[in-house]
Amino acid sequence: MPEQESAATGIDTRIPNMARMYDYALGGKDNFAADREAVEKLFSFSPENRDVPRANRRFLGRAVRFAAAQGVRQFLDLGTGLPSQGHVHEIVAEINPGAHVVYVDYDPVVVNHATALLLDSESVTAVQADIRDPEGILAHPGVTRLIDFSQPMAVLFVAVLHGIPDRDDPAGIVRAFAGHLSPGSYLILSHLTSEGHPPELVAQKEEVFARSNAPVAYRSRAEILRMFDGFDLVEPGLTAVTQWRGDQWDRQLDAAGQWWLGGVGYRE
Ligand SMILES: C[S@@+](CC[C@H](N)C(=O)[O-])C[C@H]1O[C@@H](n2cnc3c(N)ncnc32)[C@H](O)[C@@H]1O
Repeated sequence: MPEQESAATGIDTRIPNMARMYDYALGGKDNFAADREAVEKLFSFSPENRDVPRANRRFLGRAVRFAAAQGVRQFLDLGTGLPSQGHVHEIVAEINPGAHVVYVDYDPVVVNHATALLLDSESVTAVQADIRDPEGILAHPGVTRLIDFSQPMAVLFVAVLHGIPDRDDPAGIVRAFAGHLSPGSYLILSHLTSEGHPPELVAQKEEVFARSNAPVAYRSRAEILRMFDGFDLVEPGLTAVTQWRGDQWDRQLDAAGQWWLGGVGYRE
């Protein structure tokens, strides 16, 4: 794709884009100069920043593996991101072959990539939608074809809610999906956090995202904890993502992991 605005796709490559920035930070190729510049700026603020996306991605893998190991066979991944190592459906298939996975993202490029990747799959699909429209997503034919809301499932809000401003009520969005979950379901959630970090550094980071397509809010522990209302947190609770059932590799990413809080909620 040329590095300019494409009228055909509606994609403006001059504005840093959340999905493409994350892709670049994880070593991917689906990004443009504006995305790379924004991420390099973030990297320049403190040495651990290069590992921040990887720390989160590894949390996603462990949390999905955990839910699959509890017998969950349906996953709704909200804010999927560009293809990266360890797709949710691949992780799940290792434990529960044939399990259903629905990917949801509002970015057309993300959905195109996911659709191309899944061309032959009957148990996995990708839907283009905005998570600020829970009812639209819950009634979407792509979702209802693969997800049976009367059965336990896992809903993922991994590294997506920090892009939802307070005025759009991120905790209310989680509540709207949670209201449709049957007992035995899981909520898998991670969020960039301001907790324990110098406010000036947080402000510098938010300033970089403010120039992107999705301004980001680094939230406090209390704000993120509220998103789990109605769920019991499974051990070890809401922690830095690297400390959520991490191994020795995760411990090496611990400084980066402090920029996220992540946890898994269980609905009795
Ligand atoms: C940082 S990536 C996270 C990808 C993946 N969940 C992970 O943690 O590895 C965030 C993704 O959320 C998507 N996203 C952001 N706001 C969204 C919204 N309101 N509705 C749907 N998708 C959204 C972005 O397009 C991007 O692909």
